[in-house]
Amino acid sequence: MKHRTAFCAGILALAIAAPTLAAGPRTGATVYYENCTNCHGDDGKGPRTIDFEGPALVGNEFVKGQDDKELAEFLRTGRPADDPANMLRLEMPAFKLMSDADMKLLVQYVHKLAESN
Ligand code: HEC
Repeated sequence: MKHRTAFCAGILALAIAAPTLAAGPRTGATVYYENCTNCHGDDGKGPRTIDFEGPALVGNEFVKGQDDKELAEFLRTGRPADDPANMLRLEMPAFKLMSDADMKLLVQYVHKLAESN
């Protein structure tokens, strides 16, 4: 009986702690998963479904050529389908409302993707 009480207390403690633990500190990967995976893939290598087509960000030369400030500006502006610079004639949406804190994490993460292969 004593064991069972300890066990129950353990479960209870876990139930209370788990959501906090799972949330953890917010990372660039989280911001990416929330906003970009549908079109650029979980791993940054391309889209998850054929409905959304974005280029691979892994090894991406455009990203490599942008400093943090330029990349943040690009992500806030997006690239409309009718922009002369648009390659696929598909819209890259503008993330103009993203918080500065999230944008900072995201830019670091996307640069890391671009530098990986
Ligand atoms: C609805 C689909 C969609 C979403 C969501 C999306 N993108 Fe894109 N993205 C695109 C498309 C399509 C292009 C290519 C535009 C073109 O052809 O020039 C693109 C282009 C880009 C480029 C430029 C790549 C290059 O080679 O010129 C970067 C960087 C980028 N996206 C990053 C992101 C990030 C980071 C997110 C999440 C915050 C994101 N995208 C969300 C569709 C999307």
